[in-house]
Amino acid sequence: MDFSEPFDPRPADGVDASLVPRRTLRTGAKIPCIGLGTFGNDRFTPEEIARSVLGALSVGYRFIDCAAVYGNEPQIGEALRCAMHNGIAREELFISSKLWNDRHAPADVLPALKQSLADLGLDFLDMYFIHWPFPNTHAPGAAHDSRSPDARPYIHADYMATYRELEKAVDEGLIRHIGVSNTTIPKLNLLLADARIKPAANQMEMHPTFAQTGFLEYLKARDVAAIAYCPIGSPGRPKRDTDPSDVEAMTHPAVVAVAEAHGVHPALACVKWAVQRGQIPIPSSIHRAKYLANLKAAVSDPLTDAEMARIAEADCGSRLIKGQVFLWPGAASWKDLWDMDGVIAK
Ligand SMILES: NC(=O)c1ccc[n+]([C@@H]2O[C@H](COP(=O)([O-])OP(=O)(O)OC[C@H]3O[C@@H](n4cnc5c(N)ncnc54)[C@H](OP(=O)(O)O)[C@@H]3O)[C@@H](O)[C@H]2O)c1
Repeated sequence: MDFSEPFDPRPADGVDASLVPRRTLRTGAKIPCIGLGTFGNDRFTPEEIARSVLGALSVGYRFIDCAAVYGNEPQIGEALRCAMHNGIAREELFISSKLWNDRHAPADVLPALKQSLADLGLDFLDMYFIHWPFPNTHAPGAAHDSRSPDARPYIHADYMATYRELEKAVDEGLIRHIGVSNTTIPKLNLLLADARIKPAANQMEMHPTFAQTGFLEYLKARDVAAIAYCPIGSPGRPKRDTDPSDVEAMTHPAVVAVAEAHGVHPALACVKWAVQRGQIPIPSSIHRAKYLANLKAAVSDPLTDAEMARIAEADCGSRLIKGQVFLWPGAASWKDLWDMDGVIAK
């Protein structure tokens, strides 16, 4: 990729990165209150995503959320190298990646992590997530109702065997924090009891129409940060992740009304609400105007308590990323992935 155009670490319309509030993780390390997502949602090329990373770093982002399965870590690595070459220090950055489902076998975990490190051109990651709590995969473009014969429900002993490898990675200095993702309270209860090094964050879907308030309180009480994906309701998500019952956050009347009161796009009301609630949103866009607006929304013109309460009315439990392609043969519905009755589905 050609990053020959000059990189401006402080454009006049950007945000001073040192003024972006940071949250404190359980280790005492700091993480910016907003990050940039890098999933191309099957719509954007690795080069387009990498360019958005470079642009986002230029305008003041320091937290970039990556994943091996997004298929763009080598290109993002070039963007990170360019930014660091142009004066952004590694210690200012917070870079996360994720272990994909097909690398859960203990022998595969450290090689997968080292591949992400090599692709991103880094010596360590600030956080490494286990992307999903199952080793279940699906073919690209798999239909909603397809089931892999190898898929199976959550098995705690197997998950811990994967997790122990990440504890080793912390010991070896390859990662600074372990993150989990798409997990549930029953699964976290088991993990928190058994982990030698507790997870520092859970990455989970959260937006106004899927607020997960009880889960957020659970995490806060245990000093586990909530990293919010699809924070504005992922309007461009793949077709396989859409359902007629979905309630979109950006068009919800409460979100629209609050946005109008601030004279901003509803996406920005979602970002403000997320940051003020204490979760860490990772909205994505390849468009400079949008990712810059999201960062500015996180640091300026906060919502009032009444506006926060108004947006809270939008919550209707509308989960968008249901994950049905990860279901195992014999599972009843996508709800089995989420232990909605409080019991881990078998
Ligand atoms: N752990 C997991 O399993 C998991 C799952 C899903 C996502 N994630 C992470 O979360 C990140 C964000 O999720 P997401 O991209 O699905 O959802 P999202 O951030 O809620 O939505 C992204 C969409 O919102 C639009 N948008 C962004 N900023 C906007 C603004 N200021 N005004 C108007 N529209 C705006 C973008 O439009 P344009 O396309 O026009 O730019 C894009 O289509 C991903 O990139 C990924 O890093 C993790």
